[in-house]
Amino acid sequence: MTKICCIGAGYVGGPTMAMIAKQCPDVQVNVVDINENRIAAWQTDELPIYEPGLLEVVQEARGRNLFFSTDVDQGIRDADIVFVSVNTPTKTFGEGAGCASDLQYWELCARRIKEVSTSDKIIVEKSTLPVRTAEAMERVLHAGDNPVHFEVLSNPEFLAEGTAIDDLHNPDRVLIGGHETETGRKAIQTLVEIYATWIPRERILTTNLWSSELSKLTANAFLAQRVSSINAISALCEATEADVAEVAHAIGTDSRIGPKFLKASIGFGGSCFKKDILNLVYLCETYGLKEPAEYWRQVVVMNEYQEKRFVTTMLHSMFNTIANKRIAVLGFAFKADTGDTRESPAIKVCRELAAEHATIVVSDPEAMENAKLEMPELADRIGFEEDPYKAAEGAHAVAVLTDWKLYKELDFRRIYDGMQKPAFLFDGRNMLDHDALFEMGFEVYSIGKGYKTHLK
Ligand code: UDX
Ligand code: UDX
Repeated sequence: MTKICCIGAGYVGGPTMAMIAKQCPDVQVNVVDINENRIAAWQTDELPIYEPGLLEVVQEARGRNLFFSTDVDQGIRDADIVFVSVNTPTKTFGEGAGCASDLQYWELCARRIKEVSTSDKIIVEKSTLPVRTAEAMERVLHAGDNPVHFEVLSNPEFLAEGTAIDDLHNPDRVLIGGHETETGRKAIQTLVEIYATWIPRERILTTNLWSSELSKLTANAFLAQRVSSINAISALCEATEADVAEVAHAIGTDSRIGPKFLKASIGFGGSCFKKDILNLVYLCETYGLKEPAEYWRQVVVMNEYQEKRFVTTMLHSMFNTIANKRIAVLGFAFKADTGDTRESPAIKVCRELAAEHATIVVSDPEAMENAKLEMPELADRIGFEEDPYKAAEGAHAVAVLTDWKLYKELDFRRIYDGMQKPAFLFDGRNMLDHDALFEMGFEVYSIGKGYKTHLK
């Protein structure tokens, strides 16, 4: 029986390992983490992350061949394959601060693996890492006269939150990078066989290590670039009375461009896009590639512009003052179907609103607990109210910041009746029926579609 250990029971490690365990009953999967609360939660039906369909997958395998534990050393020692899926945030200190990846957790894991291992192992990078990290890790793993052989593979995860189960079940591709040596090829084959249990072989791509590491950063940079590109056009649409949804549809039907990831929004969030682009920027700079670094940095600059522009529009349309006005923020997660608030554009929007002394009420169906932790410094300006109707009661404005389906189905007549007049509605996700809202009496702003006003 093959034994897998995964270090890091987060958004990536948890769902990925649950899927492997579900699909491969003859593989034993131990997920370990230093965070006791997280591990305890994985053992209950109140999982530590909200992800549609995840609980069913966990329930099928948990206790059979899927186990969660805080005993990291034992997990490593028993395993044939060790996945490392610990977080690699942007460095906040020292060289490369604000840009480079903080690799301290990854390196600590490598040191731990080296220290406790008594048999040969395949080490799989699941965390997103700068190119050639595997090389550094190999040096750490093989330092001294350790008789154990470690073969490092890169197997980046492409799942998106909210659709993780489907992405894992039916991925566009699985990518495995390894050394072009005999032991490297053998290790790649071992991992291919695991995924091939449920994924067609032609979708399992194998490359050299550096291509695999770089592909993960590049995929996220390209996706984010599409959002920034359409958001740049949304600003131009507002100035010219073009409609960004019509433009997106018109260009997306060109099969060379394609229809996905062309939804204008207040901006992209999530734990990966910004971090990975900045990581790419830092890599380019490290190799003296100034222009490529600047090119990719602009994707992040554009995103910050879009977040800021949204608040500026709110302020200007509400007569240049929002001081002490109640503003209901509907949606705090960085996108629908997740409780994750990391790098959510809602954070920036709330900070800017608070700087204008607005009174903010945040509502979200899944992200309230995380939202409360994001902005402790704004505690006296922000309240929380899970019921969107209560959040909007007495408000001057409603701002929709997350594309939760339930916001499409709200009774906006009821919301309008309870609000101060004029009642402003800012749709940061272009998801509502703007004509109908305008008819109801709302002042309506949506991204890249201009501003509908009854005020003269
Ligand atoms: C993952 C990847 O690892 C990251 O590189 C990628 O860019 C995004 O996806 P994610 O699963 O979202 O990160 O991170 P998180 O939910 O923070 O989970 C990481 C887990 O690792 C945490 O539960 C943390 O407690 C654990 N951890 C961290 C360890 O067990 N040991 C450590 O030394 C550090
Ligand atoms: C992303 C990648 O899609 C995934 O492959 C990778 O493994 C991790 O990073 P994730 O961050 O979970 O996944 O979400 P994603 O669906 O990519 O959305 C990222 C952000 O872009 C969200 O804030 C979303 O609202 C925004 N977005 C996305 C838009 O504003 N417009 C779009 O058209 C698409």
